[in-house]
Amino acid sequence: MENGPIELQGIKYPALTHALKVKSHFLSKKPDSATTSAFLIAGESLKLYPYSDQCPPLRQNRYFHYLSGVDQIGGCFILFELSSNKLTLFLPEIDYDDIMWSGMPLSIEEASSKYDVAEVLYADSLASKLESLHESGIEIYTTDTNEYKDKSFASLVIAGNEDFFYALDESRTIKDNYEIALMKHAAKITDNCHLAVMSALPIEKNEGHIHAEFLYHSIRQGSKFLSYDPICCSGPNCGTLHYVKNDDTTQGKESVLIDAGSEWACYTSDVTRCFPINGEWTKEHLEIYTSVLEMQSTTMAGIKDGCSWEDLHMLAHKVLVKKFIEFGIFKNGTEDEIYKSGVSIHFFPHGLGHLLGMDTHDVGGYPNYSDKNPMLRYLRIRRPLKAGMVVTNEPGIYFSPFLLENGLKNPDHAKYIDMDVVNKYMYIGGVRIEDDVLVAQDGYEVFTKITSDPKEISDIVKKGLAKGKEAFHVVI
Ligand code: GLY
Ligand code: MN
Ligand code: MN
Repeated sequence: MENGPIELQGIKYPALTHALKVKSHFLSKKPDSATTSAFLIAGESLKLYPYSDQCPPLRQNRYFHYLSGVDQIGGCFILFELSSNKLTLFLPEIDYDDIMWSGMPLSIEEASSKYDVAEVLYADSLASKLESLHESGIEIYTTDTNEYKDKSFASLVIAGNEDFFYALDESRTIKDNYEIALMKHAAKITDNCHLAVMSALPIEKNEGHIHAEFLYHSIRQGSKFLSYDPICCSGPNCGTLHYVKNDDTTQGKESVLIDAGSEWACYTSDVTRCFPINGEWTKEHLEIYTSVLEMQSTTMAGIKDGCSWEDLHMLAHKVLVKKFIEFGIFKNGTEDEIYKSGVSIHFFPHGLGHLLGMDTHDVGGYPNYSDKNPMLRYLRIRRPLKAGMVVTNEPGIYFSPFLLENGLKNPDHAKYIDMDVVNKYMYIGGVRIEDDVLVAQDGYEVFTKITSDPKEISDIVKKGLAKGKEAFHVVI
């Protein structure tokens, strides 16, 4: 089991640096608040399922984590006083009855040496601390009071302030070196899991086996939590963007799409790879695969500080249109006419990518899901990229009966689609290629290294098939 990136051994998660960054963005909106404000965020607590004495695993509140670095402890609070730049962590009081079930909790001393905070206290001292801040005229900003609605101090805080959210989100969009190291580590684990999945076809006869294979290798490498419910599909199921049933047979089909990522210390990765089940690409599958690869490489080349994500998204559509005319899927128009008609949204309905960080669809992208322009409606980043952002670049092409039915209802789109040709591609379902990318001043760095080269993928699949059940142990 790994312990995380070597370069971070002995270095604390930079909670204080994060708090100072949030303060600076907050003061850009509220310049007079430096001596009169504090930030309070509650961590997530364990909650029972309804009518049950069991709870789901704890998923830490990302805003709380950003200011504390605390992950698997429920019921904490973090307080930042802007006048003194002091971070105080409040741990839940010790529940002696629970020690038998859950073991010893972290002590105050252990927490003080583990986290980048000035003081660690128990949460039973929080109410009096907040009362005293309130009496001295300090405004206490918080995201929400969901974790402490019934507590006396809930009335002392200002919840949901948009300048506070702005400051938190802007801070989170630009990753520091510590966060980048965590994300690269998550990406490395994810690469290995994808390689394992591609190599283990002899034991993958069902989409559920693909899911199991990924998860097994993720946990083996120390990543207990995946970034999101993985999407493991085969054949026509690959046309459903967020397919999570993962329970169909792969037998008798040609294509597999797996979109899955491991988390490391609350930081995510998000990767999609596609491959042919028997290692040999069919003509149609390879045509679509290489088209998506071209959509990705063409847009990747434009990534750098200040670039327009909207322009790159539209560029991906242009590549799709060019390729579809070549294949005879689009007809009756010039490249420009077909592109401008917007017909390509029935084959590439989602955005080119999103911000990535502690959340898979990370904060700060400012999407506009009610945009009147359907080509931009699902684009999750509606701002120029900045150096230090991490984004996914994930173009796709889908052959979904549902999407096509919609498209064919619009005569201005239907006239460009040759359904006789489209029908030859339906068995593929879809292809998406997704990588995690750090935006740099003059370019970009791709975190995810698992190959997307069609020849290399074909070789990996065939090698796994040739090895038979030994392929099971390919990674570890
Ligand atoms: N895995 C979800 C996405 O790619 O956005
Ligand atoms: Mn994604
Ligand atoms: Mn994904």
